[in-house]
Amino acid sequence: MKYDRAFFDAGIDRRGTQSVKWAARGIMEEGMVPLWVADMDFACAQPIVDALHQRADHACFGYTFPGPEDSGALISFWRRRHKLALLPGYLVMLPTVVAGLRACVQTMTHPGDGVIIQSPVYGPFLDAVCESGRMVLDAGLRRDEQGRYTMDYEAIERFLQQGARLMILCNPHNPVSRAWTQEELRALLSLLNRYKARLVTDEIHADFVYSPREFVPVLSLPEAREDTVMLVAASKTFNIAGLQQATAICRDPDVVAMLRRYLERSGAQCGNIFALAGTRAAYQHCDDWLDGLLQYLQANQEALTGLLSDLLPHAVLTPMEATYLAWVDIRAYDTPNCEVGSRCKKHGVALTDGQFFGMSTGEGFMRINYGCPQGQLLEGVQRFAHAVKEG
Ligand SMILES: Cc1ncc(COP(=O)(O)O)c(C=O)c1O
Repeated sequence: MKYDRAFFDAGIDRRGTQSVKWAARGIMEEGMVPLWVADMDFACAQPIVDALHQRADHACFGYTFPGPEDSGALISFWRRRHKLALLPGYLVMLPTVVAGLRACVQTMTHPGDGVIIQSPVYGPFLDAVCESGRMVLDAGLRRDEQGRYTMDYEAIERFLQQGARLMILCNPHNPVSRAWTQEELRALLSLLNRYKARLVTDEIHADFVYSPREFVPVLSLPEAREDTVMLVAASKTFNIAGLQQATAICRDPDVVAMLRRYLERSGAQCGNIFALAGTRAAYQHCDDWLDGLLQYLQANQEALTGLLSDLLPHAVLTPMEATYLAWVDIRAYDTPNCEVGSRCKKHGVALTDGQFFGMSTGEGFMRINYGCPQGQLLEGVQRFAHAVKEG
């Protein structure tokens, strides 16, 4: 199979498949173009489909455990793609990254502790903290004129001085598309180390970083403490989020044991037969699909940039260093987010409201998912522009 432009242009018809992106109640209606939730409208790589068929052919689906082939596949993928050396004992398999985030907050902090996040950021970070009775400390990112975001180290240090115990980092960052540099990450780790604060780093978007930027895994840095937890998955990379499989990675055996115990107690264990088979195949046999995808997404970035500057010249598109999600500032059009949302619905397009990522830091922003065939992206962006300009 050739994973070229024609393959990704063809997309895949997801209607009638209970797809959240295409059929979520209250969000999607017949005929709307979905450019919202972070999954992609492409067929996944053939080895994944074959592995699922093969597993289904053995007609017994009893309790199953993740084995050495599963950890081996992940470890060799991370060595091959990111030059990061990992050992099987570091891995805790679990159903989703969000389950991992919640497990980390519960096991690494106490009720009432402060946890630092950096809004605008993936909404469930905030939920994981406040729904477990911890205190959200938002060291909001700084934004320059071009719409590029950087870390606010002073705000982070203030919270550390006030006793923050944990920070949750998004690396690369959703939604502001930053691939944090080595210098930025090392400065952050040194600061956290000075106050003996712990770090959970969500690296689910690791595989979507565009040249000349490079992805820097936190665990590759000398300043990363043993008890740093990295959360990863093949779900975004290979478009298999519906299988539900993720991994928490930590070099500290006590943290690994604690996370395992917590997951056991909460019944959130990994062992879905199809998730394991699909994820193994993804990590082992699908690099050509991923390389083709990354090229296609870069072409989509160019198309999106061109069309947005033609149709919405006052919008500011944050530079796209990473992920397949674009962050657009439409404050110049002076329309509240809720109004933009309902106009988008009227014009037949669904985007993610910026306020999902932070009530104040997301006001006036929308997120566009460009992980779809280019025709679909351009149609959706045209509808979005009409919605913003014409009401
Ligand atoms: C930063 C980040 N973490 C986690 C997730 C969700 O991962 P999972 O479905 O494994 O919980 C997403 C999905 O968009 C995400 O962007």
